[in-house]
Amino acid sequence: MPEYTIPRTEAPPPGEGRTLEIDGHDIALYNVDCVFYATDDFCKHRGGHLGEGALSETCVTCPDHGWRYDVTSGQCLSHPNGDIRAYPVRDAGDHLVLTADPPFEKLF
Ligand code: FES
Repeated sequence: MPEYTIPRTEAPPPGEGRTLEIDGHDIALYNVDCVFYATDDFCKHRGGHLGEGALSETCVTCPDHGWRYDVTSGQCLSHPNGDIRAYPVRDAGDHLVLTADPPFEKLF
């Protein structure tokens, strides 16, 4: 099961998200009251960057047209076929560990 280390310096501050490239895959990392969650960054509507969206508790709103997602599960709250993948994130103190099981799909 692939695990990826994310330096603490790359983590967003509380109440925000951030887009990170991990092993060639765009991931949105969110900080909800110092608990971290991660999903695919790619909005199922038209590919907006969810890591740049507004975060309200555990809900992120796509910056492009407003689709909303639960960052804890990847469930799309705006469309029944819009769910995205979520990834477990473990806080290891000076860094975070994201687990991708199964591994990221290689697009190229
Ligand atoms: S691209 Fe995300 S709502 Fe349109």
